[in-house]
Amino acid sequence: MTGAEKNIFAEFLDTAAAALSGGYYSQRVVYNFADDRPDVPDVPRAALTNDTLDSIAAEIRACTRCPLHRERKNAAPGEGIVQPLVLVIGEGPGADEDASGRPFVGKAGQLLDKMLTSIGLSREKNCFIANIVKCRPPGNRDPEPEERAACIPFLQRQLAILKPLVILSAGRISATTLLETGEGISRLRGIWKHYQGIPLLPTFHPSYLLRDESKKTLAWEDMKSLCRRIAELDSGYEAETAALRSARHI
Ligand code: URA
Repeated sequence: MTGAEKNIFAEFLDTAAAALSGGYYSQRVVYNFADDRPDVPDVPRAALTNDTLDSIAAEIRACTRCPLHRERKNAAPGEGIVQPLVLVIGEGPGADEDASGRPFVGKAGQLLDKMLTSIGLSREKNCFIANIVKCRPPGNRDPEPEERAACIPFLQRQLAILKPLVILSAGRISATTLLETGEGISRLRGIWKHYQGIPLLPTFHPSYLLRDESKKTLAWEDMKSLCRRIAELDSGYEAETAALRSARHI
């Protein structure tokens, strides 16, 4: 583990676990992304359309289905790898994402990356990062129900192609929209549900963790739960993270 990586981990966890200095980060992590994962049963739509992630992204960038398009600089369709271990679903782009057209690249995104890294995940390697709405709500207000409803078909079409092993839903808007519930995020977080047949874990939004550091302990519980669930479902990840899970008591 390099000094910089140690800092990243310590900053996220802010716990004694940060003192760990296992060799995990110095190992090269190679997962098998061969197309051998059984198809998720209820997402056959991509096979019936000409959808690709690129064609969906192009539609998103040209979309005028809701008022959010009026003030956007760039839509942020999502990024990462296909057949990811984890599809992270946030709320919607903020100023940095609107400027760059990439999801979760601001301060919250940097924390999200640290959270993922702490359990052997990243958008470059084994995750896809997306949002409920793809255009920035002005002033970072909550996206309106009609805006979410207009945008969610894009996410569902992405899901049909991505076929993630599990979903990590970040924050209240994401969890309540996907699970169609009015329950608060404090009650929802840490409890596994399903979305379209795919295991889904709600957790706090990284922006919330930046505002209330005391919630990082619970967020770490969620990351451990996510890590355990993926290890149960994917033997490659199970093997690659064995040392990490043992060192961090996951
Ligand atoms: N917050 C989100 O929910 N998504 C982003 O892409 C950035 C910040």
